[in-house]
Amino acid sequence: MSQIIIGVVGAGTMGEGIAQVAAMSNHKVCLVDLNESVLSKAKSNHEKIISRLVEKEKITQSKSLEVLKNITYSSDFNTLKDSDLVIEAIVEKLEVKHNVFRELEKIVSKDCVLASNTSSLSIASIGSVLQNSDRIIGVHFFNPAPLMPLVEIVPGLQTSKFVLDNAYSLIKSWGKLPVIAKDTPGFIVNRVARPFYGEALRIYEEGIADFATIDWAMTEIGGFKMGPFTLMDYIGNDVNYAVTESVFTSFYYDPRFKPSFTQKRHFEAGFYGRKSGRGYYDYSNNVEKPSPIKDYKIGNYIFNRILSMLVNEAYDALFMNVASKEDLETAMTKGVNYPKGLFEWSEEIGLDNILNTLKDLFEEYGEDRYRPNPLLKRVLQD
Ligand code: NAI
Repeated sequence: MSQIIIGVVGAGTMGEGIAQVAAMSNHKVCLVDLNESVLSKAKSNHEKIISRLVEKEKITQSKSLEVLKNITYSSDFNTLKDSDLVIEAIVEKLEVKHNVFRELEKIVSKDCVLASNTSSLSIASIGSVLQNSDRIIGVHFFNPAPLMPLVEIVPGLQTSKFVLDNAYSLIKSWGKLPVIAKDTPGFIVNRVARPFYGEALRIYEEGIADFATIDWAMTEIGGFKMGPFTLMDYIGNDVNYAVTESVFTSFYYDPRFKPSFTQKRHFEAGFYGRKSGRGYYDYSNNVEKPSPIKDYKIGNYIFNRILSMLVNEAYDALFMNVASKEDLETAMTKGVNYPKGLFEWSEEIGLDNILNTLKDLFEEYGEDRYRPNPLLKRVLQD
């Protein structure tokens, strides 16, 4: 595979990481960004990260020199001309991506595969500007790309099977865990994970529990590494709110994905989370984190309600053929580190218990948001 040349456009958070992953897998990589200062930051970050890997004895000194030599940094798109695969990781704006893909097609060979790391735009829409649109594909890495094993591979309507198969095996050869996702809003992870945030916010808004108690329920009882509010503060409420709103509008305002005013107000107030010093929690020095109310009756209610909504969403993704059951399990355990796959978890708890929780919520609230997925009901009837 070493002869395959990889181009990466956009040297920000994701592009920098993706370039590193490809260079570690012995590819020559051309990293392109219009902004020279972003390029030099990416270069010095790569140098620091690679030397840390040598210190930790994860790679040898000679490998580190090879990896760094593999990457060239440039603001000139023409350096991408010999690429076999170009991965675009620029700003999430369709018009800007269209301009880049139009430009790329003029530069690269007719066999070069063109990929986008988009997290919310459709691959069909990105590829629509290409003359040869069967070479477009989504390769959705997770942040940080060098550490997160999951990559969602998203064929658009136009993508050829050849391009899909090759992208899949190439990403696999990089030591990643590729899963195939249908070109639908949020792909797998950003769709199935929505209730982790949305239902937690809803429980808070109803006054059932505060942020700390909901986080405690999900970590202590549920075994999640972080509770929803700690995680949203970590991701950033600006980023998380934008994804929520985009999934909601892309699903034609399906109430399952309705954003919450609590999150919107936090976003509007600039309470983004850790990076702004305040989110659902206050991260200033000397401010103690609020204590949860460790009431297991409330805790179990919170956990069951959020988990049931997550399982319902996983079933919906399977029902709508977004991905295979196996890929859905991989995506949620490797992309967002859930302690168990949602299907495995539902079997452990009992799918009938999940369905009963959903039915109770649906009956109590009369909201479409809580409608149990038909597949979940069918599986129980079989
Ligand atoms: P970023 O803002 O860190 O980096 C984007 C880079 O693109 C900037 O350095 C900018 O100078 C460059 N750029 C903008 N327009 C350009 C152009 N016309 N030509 C060349 N370079 C250009 O953005 P980030 O977070 O790395 O996101 C990039 C893409 O990856 C987006 O599509 C985003 O949705 C997606 N993504 C982001 C994740 C994240 O956690 N940040 C996770 C997975 C996907």
